[in-house]
Amino acid sequence: MRARKIIIDTDPGQDDAVAILLALASPELEVLGITAVAGNVPLALTEKNARIICELAGRSDLRVFAGCDRPMKRKLVTAEHVHGKTGLDGIVLPDPVMPLAEGHAVDFLIETLREEAPGTVTLCPIGPLTNIATAFERAPDIVGRVAEIVLMGGAYFAVGNITPAAEFNIYVDPEAAEIVFRSGVPLVVMPLDVTHKALTTRARVEGFRNLGTRVGHAVASWTDFFERFDMAKYGSEGAPLHDPCTIAYLVKPDLFSGRHINVEIETEGRFTTGMTVADWWRVSGREANAMFIGDVDAEGFYALLTERLARL
Ligand code: BDR
Ligand code: CA
Repeated sequence: MRARKIIIDTDPGQDDAVAILLALASPELEVLGITAVAGNVPLALTEKNARIICELAGRSDLRVFAGCDRPMKRKLVTAEHVHGKTGLDGIVLPDPVMPLAEGHAVDFLIETLREEAPGTVTLCPIGPLTNIATAFERAPDIVGRVAEIVLMGGAYFAVGNITPAAEFNIYVDPEAAEIVFRSGVPLVVMPLDVTHKALTTRARVEGFRNLGTRVGHAVASWTDFFERFDMAKYGSEGAPLHDPCTIAYLVKPDLFSGRHINVEIETEGRFTTGMTVADWWRVSGREANAMFIGDVDAEGFYALLTERLARL
């Protein structure tokens, strides 16, 4: 089987880190590059964190590009209250030695999509959609060349986490999200509805720690840190591991189920800016533009994650 070519667009973030590690541990996927964007923390930290993660996985050969340092039309909103000051709080890892790749992430996205055969590159955005939308605006010819976009963002039943109505990745750059959701590229969306069913538990975190490896220890430390915020907020036993759902879907789509529906992005709401208006009940008559995932086999998801992380 040929590995599927992907580009991970990310704002690490502990859960982004786990997603990247899962991808690097999965032979079904070939990571062509990692593009960093401002989100959970400013760009200077997200690009640095992406390199720290590559080095942790022993993949200093990978190319990490710095992308947009702010949303298309708005001021950057960050989430240090969830991820800590560095974005990767929970364990102190060495500063990266591998350099940042030369060039802008948006140029890398454009060039790669032009160079690779049409329909062979999948994009996995797990942060605000600024880099992807900027690339689409600047080079409309690449849009039709994207095989699929599998992204983490939005919510319908779970409504919002950064505001009562909006999920963080979409809220930070709703104009970018609107461009992506209207692009016509086949979309698979991992909203909070599904990530909140992929909760950590003590046993699952200990499963990572018990791998007895640097990666297992780091992932357990990150999830321990990251959990405290959601456990206090929701009174749940653990926290959602949002971003790895995208990579798990690429490796094992059967773990997930959802509906092919219309999803629009609210960009002008008084209270609802950044909301994903998901027509789950198909009442709008608007054309479907996204596979909106609603359910996951959480046991299967954690089994896959633990088995894969053990390979690093
Ligand atoms: C999303 O926002 C970030 O805090 C996480 O990394 C994830 O991508 C969840 O709303
Ligand atoms: Ca993220």
